[in-house]
Amino acid sequence: ERLRAQQAQHSENADQFTTSIQGCRRCSLWKNATQAVVGTGPLDAEIMIVGEQPGDHEDLAGQPFVGPAGQLLDQGLAGAGIDRSRVYVTNAVKHFKFRANGRQRIHQSPNRTEIENCKWWLDLEIERVAPKLLVALGATALESLTGTRHDLLNCRGSLERTPDGRPVFVTVHPSYILRLPNSERAAALSNFTDDLHKVAALLQP
Ligand code: URA
Repeated sequence: ERLRAQQAQHSENADQFTTSIQGCRRCSLWKNATQAVVGTGPLDAEIMIVGEQPGDHEDLAGQPFVGPAGQLLDQGLAGAGIDRSRVYVTNAVKHFKFRANGRQRIHQSPNRTEIENCKWWLDLEIERVAPKLLVALGATALESLTGTRHDLLNCRGSLERTPDGRPVFVTVHPSYILRLPNSERAAALSNFTDDLHKVAALLQP
């Protein structure tokens, strides 16, 4: 009940949301990251796309999906006729988790505890935006939204539900496409775009 009241209060004020997340100490990822990266997009968006966590570019820019994975997401959305500026784009985890390798920062996947702790913030965003459809990009987003770890390949292209019944469309993470050999990328991007076409179709009246 108290949590609900807190969440309702947070949801009234976007600036307060952004400010308070910079002070988040729910886990230790804040220590090495540049900043917390919250979602961007209209608060009345019908679609909320959820990724894993900010990458190197996003950590520096303070905006989700602005690096190479973001470019691929943009290509997929454009191919499916979805206007990114009408979509709310965010991540399951708000701080970049990495290990240093010289001057390089190598991405590390968030663990279950980090995903669970950060769900508090994602829930606030979902409550504020109240999207008609959530889109999980990859296994971390899906785990965060449904509370269970799924085999992505078994449920890609299907609709799952959050514990409170919100529909979640499942697709791959664009970084997965980036990691494929060159020869396989075009087909994978085309499949990703097909998935996003299904997202657009689900919202047709
Ligand atoms: N990958 C993600 O999951 N999110 C981003 O914002 C960037 C890359």
